[in-house]
Amino acid sequence: MRYGYFDDPHREYVITQPNTPLPWINYLGCEAYFGIISNTAGGYSFYRDARLRRLTRYRYNNAPFDFGGRYLYLRDNDTGQFWSPSWQPTRTRLDQYECRHGMGYTIIGSACRKIEAQTCYFVPLGETLEIWKLSVTNRRHKAARLSVFSSIEFCLWDAQDDSTNFQRNFSTGQVEMVDGVIYHKTEYRERRDHFAYFACSEKLAGFDTQRDTFLGACRSWDNPAAVERGKSFNSVACGWAPHGSHHVKVNLKPGETREIIFLLGYHENPADQKFDPPDSQTINKRTVKPVIAKYLDGRNVAAALQALRENWDGLLGVYQVQSPDVHANRMVNIWNAYQCMATFNLSRSASFYESGIGRGLGFRDSNQDLLGFVQMVPARARERILDIAATQLSTGGAFHQYQPLTKRGNNDIGSGFNDDPHWLVLGVAAYLKETGDWGILDEPVPFENEPGSEKPLYEHLRRSFNYTLERLGPHGLPLIGRADWNDCLNLNCFSDTPGQSFQTTTNKDGKVAESVFIAGLFVLAGKELAAMAKNRGQHKEAERCLAEAAKMEKVIYQHGWDGEWFVRAYDDFGKPIGSKVCQEGKIFIESQGMCVMAGIGLKDGNAKRALQSVHQHLATKHGIVLQQPAFSRYYIEMGEISSYPPGYKENAGIFCHNNPWIIIAETMVGNGDRAFDYYTRINPSAREKIGHLHRCEPYVFAQMIAGKDAPTHGEAKNSWLTGTAAWTYFTATQWIFGIRTDYDGLLIDPCIPAKWRGFKVQRVFRGETYDIAVRNPRGVMKGVRRIVVDGVEIPGQLLRPTGGGQKHSVLVEMG
Ligand code: GLC
Ligand code: GLC
Repeated sequence: MRYGYFDDPHREYVITQPNTPLPWINYLGCEAYFGIISNTAGGYSFYRDARLRRLTRYRYNNAPFDFGGRYLYLRDNDTGQFWSPSWQPTRTRLDQYECRHGMGYTIIGSACRKIEAQTCYFVPLGETLEIWKLSVTNRRHKAARLSVFSSIEFCLWDAQDDSTNFQRNFSTGQVEMVDGVIYHKTEYRERRDHFAYFACSEKLAGFDTQRDTFLGACRSWDNPAAVERGKSFNSVACGWAPHGSHHVKVNLKPGETREIIFLLGYHENPADQKFDPPDSQTINKRTVKPVIAKYLDGRNVAAALQALRENWDGLLGVYQVQSPDVHANRMVNIWNAYQCMATFNLSRSASFYESGIGRGLGFRDSNQDLLGFVQMVPARARERILDIAATQLSTGGAFHQYQPLTKRGNNDIGSGFNDDPHWLVLGVAAYLKETGDWGILDEPVPFENEPGSEKPLYEHLRRSFNYTLERLGPHGLPLIGRADWNDCLNLNCFSDTPGQSFQTTTNKDGKVAESVFIAGLFVLAGKELAAMAKNRGQHKEAERCLAEAAKMEKVIYQHGWDGEWFVRAYDDFGKPIGSKVCQEGKIFIESQGMCVMAGIGLKDGNAKRALQSVHQHLATKHGIVLQQPAFSRYYIEMGEISSYPPGYKENAGIFCHNNPWIIIAETMVGNGDRAFDYYTRINPSAREKIGHLHRCEPYVFAQMIAGKDAPTHGEAKNSWLTGTAAWTYFTATQWIFGIRTDYDGLLIDPCIPAKWRGFKVQRVFRGETYDIAVRNPRGVMKGVRRIVVDGVEIPGQLLRPTGGGQKHSVLVEMG
């Protein structure tokens, strides 16, 4: 069953019924001000940090699931009937409903009692505010006398404190109501230099800023007292729950439309200019007034929306494909790239499954996110790399997470995830391959943000590599530490106390448990580092990296190969995990994907053997599960992985993030049919038709799809903020379509289904535009026979940019 459809020419997903199985959301904002918006206008907004600068309140895990948001009410003043044009919160039956999620904007349109309403929500580029542009049209034969009420609930900034510390918070809330603008200024009197504002373009009939007055005793948003009686209370909050509501009266002739603009924004004042007059307690509004005035003007709103669209044209224009598969096309050309922007900006902090109060930016996650993002905004990728590297420890180790606002490592979770450092190498490699900006390796970057400790970025990468060499276990494989990529494989944890964190509890000295996955990652990162060293003329160093990688490869064969597949790890007793000798968890996906990506087993057929084992034991019609057999009980020596019921999350769920590793591996061995088939199994667009089962949004990847051991096999969870976004994008664009960035240019190396007769890609790369037409007259899956660039056949498969910013036409013949 479907709940909507793709409108590809407009780059929108159109939801046609409000009660989707889960809230289907979109993100507003892509720089500093962000909002999450559901298809019924639920969600919240924040400035940079979803925990520390939360503008509006949201209650997670609510019933109904999605309740609270950017709400509007329409009221017929002749009959007293009222409804929500976004369906929530009144849930009045609508005669028409449509939600269009687009690139950085959402439009919710509906009709009820012959009154049409359409609201467009977006954040203008470069601004710290969001716009709600409402148009109301009277489709009746007679005049309509209407009221419009707006409603948002302010959060008292720190979302964690806001939802727990009521003895204080019920007494701190403060607002100002001036010239029709509601200013939320809790804690502005003391240490905050920021406030929020909520403005409206129309003359107000009234307002409310105290939630409980607006709603009335014992009522909720589905039936606010002010709306029901058709008149605001003009309440001014002091303590309790500051709220924003405007009341506007709209009289419409038959066929008439009126546009009303609402602005919700965040503003900072210089610390010495907070008040006006200076010795008062009144907010200095001189700095914010021009911004408010600008966006209450409809012409500026239209121009800002147009600018947003053009910005996305540019971002998405970097890579556009036309292949025989509509699902791959729309994911690559539109939605997957768009999702990569969200993961880059928000890491794993704020979604409908990440509450925004837990995690900051992950070291590992953010580096991987670069893979899907770097081509769109390389300058921001560069800045991100330098920020991440500045949190690295001088040992080469890494804080597992850091806070976006302070850019400092997060002490609560600390370090010791022994795969983390290598992802920095891969992130930098992706950046270099995209940009050719070798200068970044010489940028001085501190360790742990300690001034005076600066070393060139390249030295950080060396320490990442050496970190593993200094931490080898009994078999010569890398020690795992708290966990590797699989946060839930906690081999030194041994926790028997409820509530202990699997990620930070460590009851073993960590000198035994080893990871074959990190070994593979080390080989992969070692090869990249060698390429970088070579480019810098450090040939000895390049040789050292390759020699260490080769040595590790030998160790993997000695102790990490199980006969039919790669072992996953060794536990604290020195016993293998992910081996045929195990009772449960005999084969894991991660080591197969990573080892083959590192090139291990490509020559001797073991890569193919391992992939065949994946196919046989792990592949399902909904994707590839993480391991088999699932853990049926809790194993203290393995930690969180066995805490999940079979088929969920890391315990044999389809953890979509690592499916692309297998897909890349399949392309490396030339199996284009299987690679594309695996890709399609998790592709949300291809799963749209089973929406009732999949349940998450069909336009973005989810972190997990329930595995075959779960009662809900095929059900997706945790959409949006997942490494799946970057990895699937990277896989489709660079390994299936095979237009792959490399240090010296663009490598052309497609691996596609045999039945495809060709495809086209337009790629903007280092300032040049390549129009690439790939033909496959012989029906092969891989292999390039010849490449003709601007009419001239070139040797090899690498397109070398000439630096002239030209357009090139490239003809590729497979075979
Ligand atoms: C989550 C984490 C990621 C980890 C993965 C597997 O997606 O954000 O860092 O690698 O789970 O445990
Ligand atoms: C839990 C989740 C895992 C995630 C981790 C982050 O362990 O299962 O997916 O990576 O939390 O801390």
